[in-house]
Amino acid sequence: MIFGQEEMEAYIETLFPPDSDLQRTLNGIRSKGMPEISVPTAYGRLLTLLVSMSGASRVLEIGALGGYSGICLARGMTPDGRLTSLELLQDYADTAQEHLTAAGFGAQVEYFIGDASDSLAKLKQDGRRFDFFFIDADKKNYLRYLEAALELAEPGAVIVADNTLLRGRVADPARIGTTLDAMREVNRQLAENPRLMGTLLPAYDGLAVMRVRS
Ligand SMILES: C[S@@+](CC[C@H](N)C(=O)[O-])C[C@H]1O[C@@H](n2cnc3c(N)ncnc32)[C@H](O)[C@@H]1O
Repeated sequence: MIFGQEEMEAYIETLFPPDSDLQRTLNGIRSKGMPEISVPTAYGRLLTLLVSMSGASRVLEIGALGGYSGICLARGMTPDGRLTSLELLQDYADTAQEHLTAAGFGAQVEYFIGDASDSLAKLKQDGRRFDFFFIDADKKNYLRYLEAALELAEPGAVIVADNTLLRGRVADPARIGTTLDAMREVNRQLAENPRLMGTLLPAYDGLAVMRVRS
């Protein structure tokens, strides 16, 4: 019997031993009635790996929720690393801060509250630069977030974006809409933008992985 994608993803999730910091985070998200849309375990681990392999110390996350991906990103940072996380809602940022603190990263994270487009403009104005980006907020603005990341990126920076398959809808030409158009353009850019090297991992909801050329 050949297993489908969902069965394989479920199998992969069984491989990883319990992780008390991440479990506390998921429990906290559930108990507060927040959406249960943190990155899947396997992609969280990939974030840690990619941050660690790239030697990143200034990491920018767009979309904090309860801090699950924040912990995964922070785990890969150099010891002096700093995570800057952009989140629309104060409550969510407070929850994320609580979970990052419980995981030992409270002093290494800062939150910008409000619309990420405004926060990105402020970061640009302040001359901030980053060597790793994780885009995981409102899908309709992904192209804008990719463009902003390119403006804030150090040469060689890594840019990762979750949900770039939109449950497969991007691959269906019959489906149209502004969010789909924006996501298709992100996927086209990872393949064709001369400033980027990139690919798209098809498991779960699709993960775009890119590197800004030096
Ligand atoms: C998919 S969740 C993030 C999950 C998180 N990265 C994780 O894996 O732990 C998306 C988050 O983006 C936030 N968000 C949505 N629109 C936003 C915007 N315009 N600016 C900043 N954050 C936004 C939501 O409040 C939510 O917390």
